[in-house]
Amino acid sequence: MKTDGATQALGGRKQSLIEDARRERIGSGPAGPSAGPSRSGNGAVFEEKDGTVTVSVLFALSNEKNSGFFQTGKVFETFEAKLLHVESRPRRKTKFGGLPDLEFFMSCEVHRSDLDVFINSLKRVADDVRTVPEEKAPWFPRQIKDLDRCNLLITKFDPDLHCDHPGYNDSEYRKRRAAISELAFRYKQGDPLPTVEYTAEEISTWRKVYQQLRSVYPSLACRQFLDSLQQLEDECGYGGDCIPQLRDVSAFLKEKTGFQLRPVAGLLSARDFLASLAFRVFQCTQYIRHPSSPMHSPEPDCCHELLGHIPMLGDREFAQFSQQEIGLASLGASDEEIEKLSTLYWFTVEFGLCKQNGEVKAYGAGLLSSYGELVYALSNEPEYKPFNPEETAVQPYQDQTYQSVYFVSESFEDAKVKLRKYSANIKRPFAVRYDPFTCSVEVLDQPSKVQNALSQVREDLKTLHSALEKLNSS
Ligand SMILES: [Fe+2]
Repeated sequence: MKTDGATQALGGRKQSLIEDARRERIGSGPAGPSAGPSRSGNGAVFEEKDGTVTVSVLFALSNEKNSGFFQTGKVFETFEAKLLHVESRPRRKTKFGGLPDLEFFMSCEVHRSDLDVFINSLKRVADDVRTVPEEKAPWFPRQIKDLDRCNLLITKFDPDLHCDHPGYNDSEYRKRRAAISELAFRYKQGDPLPTVEYTAEEISTWRKVYQQLRSVYPSLACRQFLDSLQQLEDECGYGGDCIPQLRDVSAFLKEKTGFQLRPVAGLLSARDFLASLAFRVFQCTQYIRHPSSPMHSPEPDCCHELLGHIPMLGDREFAQFSQQEIGLASLGASDEEIEKLSTLYWFTVEFGLCKQNGEVKAYGAGLLSSYGELVYALSNEPEYKPFNPEETAVQPYQDQTYQSVYFVSESFEDAKVKLRKYSANIKRPFAVRYDPFTCSVEVLDQPSKVQNALSQVREDLKTLHSALEKLNSS
């Protein structure tokens, strides 16, 4: 703790304290009071509201005397700092042995113009004063019901607007698609999933797609896809005779991997789509492609979702990977990072190939729901590159024709490990964690939250340790 002359000047003399600290600040550099969001110390940016900023600060106080505690309190009083959160804990290292110093974590609101002076004043009475970076991040859903706000649609392939869409000149088709999309517009998290009474023509389109793709899956799809598809056929009514309902498929997935479905009216923005994965929610279209083009659709449709995506989401490892490495990694990421992450999603989850038993197999939903591109991708024609997230994240992609290049992973696991490593390096000023009990995302921005999370991990480890002991003794 500092005990210099400036500390003695505290004694409630608000004006002199501010002036004193202000002089120090002016003397230390050319920067005046910042006009925009305040920055202090290590470059932290603080949330601003009505002229006040929220700041989180860590500092240490000697345990030898209580005076430092009262002096820091005086600083907070002097600057009319509104306390939002206070924590204390023993400091790991003590300078002189004896009782450990105490480390404090405090969040408070202060006037923006006072921020630098406030921090400098704390530095006079406490040790190791550090502001905790709290950078502004784009909004993201914290609770599963917030997904009702993740509904930004991209109209690029909408048949009402996109003249290359096979349904562009078919007003009846567009009316039908709009009616099914309306079900998704009205849906709120927690509502029963809407049922669509598909017409005979729609079921006929589905049957053509199903039978054509099913015939080539055994030789072209990865093992995880085939295993899961078999379960869907055995337990969830998958087959050529009817289009599975989202309600039934969602119940199936919930039991297998905890994923659930929600209806969506069309192609979602990358940020909103990826965010839903963080909650183990997959947004699914319910309308079907135009009957004139059963083997290809420029936009996602129920054939793409139910045949391409659902079987992979029934695999536990893939489900974990989708939530952890893609969904949670996307929350609060910058636009630039979202673009890279969605490109990686494109070349893996949508168009990924992997080696299995010495052969190249498909695991991407864009391939597994499009007969023509599936066969093309696994022919000798296209260029293959080894999957490397840094390179793949900036590879230009094709959303109107076949890909010019496909990325091949050494194995399905290899893709997961590499993407996990990449996602861990996405720059964010905080970490997030999914709480399955409350279906919410927790931002780990306070020491107490990290402690709570660690306690839960310790409990899980105890259970695993106990299980191993029982296995060893049996
Ligand atoms: Fe997709």
